[in-house]
Formats: sequence, structure tokens, C-alpha cells
Amino acid sequence: MTADPSQHRPATPPTGSPAKRAAIALGVTVAATAAAILILGDAAYLWVKAVHVIAIISWMAGMLYLPRLFIYHCDAPKGSAQSETFKVMERRLLQIIINPAMIVSWVLGLWLAWKAGYFTDVWFHAKLALALALSAVHGYFSASVRAFAEDRNTKPPRHWRIMNEVPTLLMIAIVILVIVKPF
Ligand code: HEM
Repeated sequence: MTADPSQHRPATPPTGSPAKRAAIALGVTVAATAAAILILGDAAYLWVKAVHVIAIISWMAGMLYLPRLFIYHCDAPKGSAQSETFKVMERRLLQIIINPAMIVSWVLGLWLAWKAGYFTDVWFHAKLALALALSAVHGYFSASVRAFAEDRNTKPPRHWRIMNEVPTLLMIAIVILVIVKPF
């Protein structure tokens, strides 16, 4: 995930490749989940939950790092080598880590909920609502990567500092809901 600033390569806007990467991640997840269920039977639940948590950690790492890149990117003059490097870093972080991790989190999380019969539980409804909110923030960050790639960002660093806290707050609430299950 490195880019040499001295090369000053123009960053191309996202193309069809994110969809391809996401489709591959989805296919591998479905295949691995199906294999785990067939081979492990009831023990598959804990393995699937472990992979769900690994995917969540990857998703959150990206969601916390991306707005930090936006903050630094705001200070880089448009057209500078530094700005072009940030474009590459943002695009790769989104396509290689954040998008596939979100898909894996959703697929496995929904399978876990179906398997354990959580769809009628109030704590799960609340968790689902917050996971949807996190996904909406993800969509906003994704659109922002495109805006930065096309030098269209108009938001100041302060905006991105505030946005940096949103995934953190959602994550804290979601983890409390799923572990404490307060209602
Ligand atoms: C994207 C939609 C999501 C769905 C449908 C989902 C669903 C689930 C389900 C059903 C479980 C199993 C709970 C249990 O066995 O007690 C689980 C576990 C877990 N989820 Fe999610 N989840 C999602 C997203 C997230 C997010 C965004 C986070 C954190 C930011 C998260 C963190 C966790 C953790 C830490 C566990 C393990 C809890 C435990 O074993 O006690 N999940 N998830």
C-alpha cells in the first residue's frame, strides 16, 4: 500500500474494479461459510463469529483511518505530489480493505443472527440500526474518496475531525449491544 510521491502519478478515479473485488470477497465468504457449516456442523457458529469479528476489526480500522487521511489531504495543495499520494492511499484503503471487510461483516453477521434466532430480539434490532448507520457513513466516505480524487472536496479539516469520531461512537454502542445485550 505504498506509493512513491516523487513519481507524481495522477490517481485515477475508482472504476469497475471495486465491484470485482467486492464480488470476489463475497464469493470467498459464502464458499468458506458453506464449507465450515458442512464440515463443522454446530461448531461452525463460533468459527463464523470469529471471522465476523476479524472482518469487523478490518472494517473499523479502515473507517477510523480514512477520515484521518482526509484531514491531512485537506492540507495538501491540489495537484501536488502529496495530494496525488493521498488519492492513491485513500482509494486502495477503500477498495482493498474497507469494502470487502464490510461485505464479509454483513454476510456473516446476518448468518449468525439467523442461526441463533436473534431477529426477534430488541438488542439485535438496535444493533442492526447502528450497523446500518455505520454503513451509511461508509457510503459517505466512499463518495468522499471520489470527491478528493477529482479535487472536489470543499469540506475543511474540522469537518473530517468530527466525522472521524462518528464510527468510533457507533462502534462503542454496537459492541456494548452485542456483548451486554441489555434488552
Ligand atoms: C453489519 C451488520 C452486523 C450484523 C448483522 C451483526 C450480527 C452479529 C451477530 C448475530 C453476532 C453473534 C452474537 C452472539 O452470538 O451473541 C455478532 C457478534 C459480534 N459482532 Fe456483529 N453484526 C454486525 C456488525 C457488527 C459491527 C459493526 C460490530 C462492531 C463495530 C460488531 C461486533 C460484533 C462483536 C464484537 C461480536 C462478538 C460478540 C460476542 O461473541 O459476545 N458487529 N454480530
